[in-house]
This record gives sequence, structure tokens and C-alpha cells, in this order.
Amino acid sequence: MERIKTGISELDEIIGGFPEGKTIIITGDPGSGKTIFGLQFAYANCLEGKKILYVSTEEDAPELKQQGRSFGWNFESFENRGFLKFVELAGYRAMEIKEALSISMEAVKGDFTQFSDNLPVDTNILIIDSLGSHVSNLTSYEFRDRFNLLVYNMAQKGITTVVLLGGVISREFVDLALYSAYGAIQLLKRENPYTGLRERVMDIVKMRNTKTPVQLLPYEISSTGIIITIPIDSSG
Ligand SMILES: Nc1ncnc2c1ncn2[C@@H]1O[C@H](COP(=O)(O)OP(=O)(O)O)[C@@H](O)[C@H]1O
Ligand SMILES: [Mg+2]
Repeated sequence: MERIKTGISELDEIIGGFPEGKTIIITGDPGSGKTIFGLQFAYANCLEGKKILYVSTEEDAPELKQQGRSFGWNFESFENRGFLKFVELAGYRAMEIKEALSISMEAVKGDFTQFSDNLPVDTNILIIDSLGSHVSNLTSYEFRDRFNLLVYNMAQKGITTVVLLGGVISREFVDLALYSAYGAIQLLKRENPYTGLRERVMDIVKMRNTKTPVQLLPYEISSTGIIITIPIDSSG
């Protein structure tokens, strides 16, 4: 199975990258670094020459680019050369997007069927930042069906998809997404049992076809983005 860079070099060493053409979900409380992970993943793959669509439902493109710049990631040059496209699926801007990509307003409500039919043909990577409040009106059946369809459609197209699940999404929806996603990473904070200090850790909840560590991986948000701070034995 081909692998795609996660953007976090230590994580690439540990799990070998994300399985290509599969859907991975990233969960975590607000401020845990989901968007930074998404941007870091996008930037690393811009450098690899991949075509990337970054769909944002929370922040607009200038905000995302500004956050990227704070880590030294210059997205503009990749946007200008057509490798990266930020799509804002929020508020009034969704209307423009509908025009631009023929996405039905249903996409905003969590129906990604037509959305996935209208992705630029040569897209390699899709990042959805994030599924949250706008899917809260769905029943669990609707959410499960739509999420499954997204996973299926992206796999058919061979598009590696990272879906960030926002803080307002229900536990039940997270569980449904966990079930059908190919991989899942949870970002959390915990008290270090030795130092008594709180630290950020990531849990590789699942990653099919991949040897994953059982241990939590401590990470920091540094001046160059997310870094995993202690080397770990990947045999765990
Ligand atoms: N330039 C930076 N350097 C270090 N840490 C940062 C920087 N920018 C943001 N952060 C940290 O990242 C957090 C926001 O991460 P973000 O990816 O937006 O979280 P989420 O998307 O999970 O809500 C901030 O609360 C802050 O702790
Ligand atoms: Mg975010």
C-alpha cells in the first residue's frame, strides 16, 4: 500500500505515513491542534507535488494562511500554481463555492454526495476542517450514511482524505465516523504521571494495514508546527 506523508516527520517514521486513498479522522478538543495538523499535512504534500483541496467550515482562507505563515509555511505559491485550493464552506461564502464547484448547499448540511462528485478531477488529497455543528441536525442514520458514502467515494477516486471532527460533534457521531474511517488519531491533553505537568499527547486510535504504537505520543506545537517530542519504539 502506498503511503502519504502525514506532515509530522516523527509520525511518518512511526506509522510510515497515511495509507493512500483512505479516509483518516482526527478528533480533539478545540485548541488541540487539529487545524494545525490539517495545514501541516497540506503543506508537506504541497512540497510533494500533490493536488490538495482544503475545505474549511470554520476559518476563512486568509486566517488559515496566516496560521500557516506563523510556522513558516507559504501556501500562496502553491495556490498560485494550482496545487492547493482553499474552499470556504461557511456562511454566505458557501454560495460562491456552490457556483465555483457546483456543490449543493446540502454539502453545508453534511451531505457530501454531490460534493464528492464535483471535486477537481486531479485532486490527490482532501482535507475537511471540520465536521461539527453543521452536521448536528442530522439523525445518526443520516450522518452514518453520508459519512460512509464520503469514505466510499474518496476510496473509489483514490483521494486521501483527512476529516477533522470538531468539538461540538456528538460522541455518537464520532463513534460512527471512527467505525467507518480507515484510521483515526485523537489529540488530547493529559497530566504526565511523572512530572505532574499537563502535556499534549496523540493517540493513534486505529490505522488499518499499519503497525501502530499503543503508547500515547507526546507532541508540542513548536515554531515549525507539530512535533512528537519523545522518540518511541514503534514495535509497541
Ligand atoms: N504559532 C504558534 N506557535 C505555537 N503554538 C501555536 C501557534 N499557533 C497556534 N498555536 C497553538 O495551537 C492552538 C490552536 O490549534 P488549532 O489547530 O487551531 O486547534 P483546533 O483546530 O483543534 O481547534 C492554539 O490554542 C495554540 O495553543
Ligand atoms: Mg480548527
